[in-house]
Amino acid sequence: MTSPPPVDGLLLGIETSCDETAAAVVTATGQVRSTVVSSQVDLHAAYGGVVPEIAGRAHLELLPAVLSAALEGAGLSRSAPGLAAVAATSGPGLIGSLLVGLSEAKALALAWEVPFVAVNHLEGHLFAALLDHSALDRPSLRWPVVVALVSGGHSLIVSMEGPGRYRLLGQTLDDAAGEAFDKVARFLGLGYPGGPAIEAAAAAGDPTAFPFPRALLADGLDLSFSGLKTAVLRAVEARPDASNEDVAASFQQAVVDVLVAKVVRGALEVGAGGLCLAGGVAANGPLRTAVLRAGGDLGIPVYLPSRAMCTDNASMIAAAGWWQLEHLGPSPLDTPADPNLHLRLLP
Ligand code: KG4
Ligand code: ZN
Repeated sequence: MTSPPPVDGLLLGIETSCDETAAAVVTATGQVRSTVVSSQVDLHAAYGGVVPEIAGRAHLELLPAVLSAALEGAGLSRSAPGLAAVAATSGPGLIGSLLVGLSEAKALALAWEVPFVAVNHLEGHLFAALLDHSALDRPSLRWPVVVALVSGGHSLIVSMEGPGRYRLLGQTLDDAAGEAFDKVARFLGLGYPGGPAIEAAAAAGDPTAFPFPRALLADGLDLSFSGLKTAVLRAVEARPDASNEDVAASFQQAVVDVLVAKVVRGALEVGAGGLCLAGGVAANGPLRTAVLRAGGDLGIPVYLPSRAMCTDNASMIAAAGWWQLEHLGPSPLDTPADPNLHLRLLP
């Protein structure tokens, strides 16, 4: 298959797969001209998690202002922005949420007579670290890069052989890492979203206070977090006087140990030229520190996205959209929203 010729200009990315309403304008070389993320955290906090119906309605209300702010931030007019293309997340995610951003992107592409690109949210996360480091253009980058893609809905260990070239090395057999953070935080009464709340509590705790299990630590590249979550519940039932800080720190350390072990094993298995973290859990400070140390021990570079680039945003969708537009061409306007969309893997 011959690739379409490179396209110049600016691409608008839209992300509405879960509870962040986001839009960004990015150049073909990965420069972020504007990025706007409107979080719905306050709307969902009272329920202890994302309520799909509320999320969909909130995207509808928030998206027009988010879009205007992103276009204005890039110095573009809403009526005729002169963009090269419009990209949006088509899955995976919540169906009602996905539909809002996807329909808007298609409508704008039609109105502005520019190509439309449907982007996989997981692929967006994979582009995030490399976008932040402009590593995609860096001659020193040696593929494959092994990525722990750890978010609220997914936990994958991926060997990235280049943009668009992914091999799945392992994945969670039950809960996602972020889901475990959210559930344990809710159980400890630390609030939502759980990741930042656990990290904050853990900072004042002893990570060795509870010997929580490290599931599948010495076993392949798959992950499992549901036993860990249950172990936390049992430990707190057995010791109701235990400090939240110690429980949070011990839980967090167990997750970090497992993720670092898997990334290192994956890197050794494929002879990786780099390590990388992606997804909301990649914002976790102790995880970032531990992966940096592991990369140092292995003598290979570590590509860490900024914390803002780890959690859901539209810059990563625009960056993945650019790559797709240039290498695979535009997407059909009847591309459906797919809540269970899988990462496109190498055969
Ligand atoms: O990638 P993301 O923004 O949305 C999904 O695609 O799921 O990830 C959200 C997840 C939530 O489970 C949240 O608790 C977790 O990422 N998270 C963190 C941190 N910040 C967000 N987990 C651990 N430590 C953090 N600092
Ligand atoms: Zn995400």
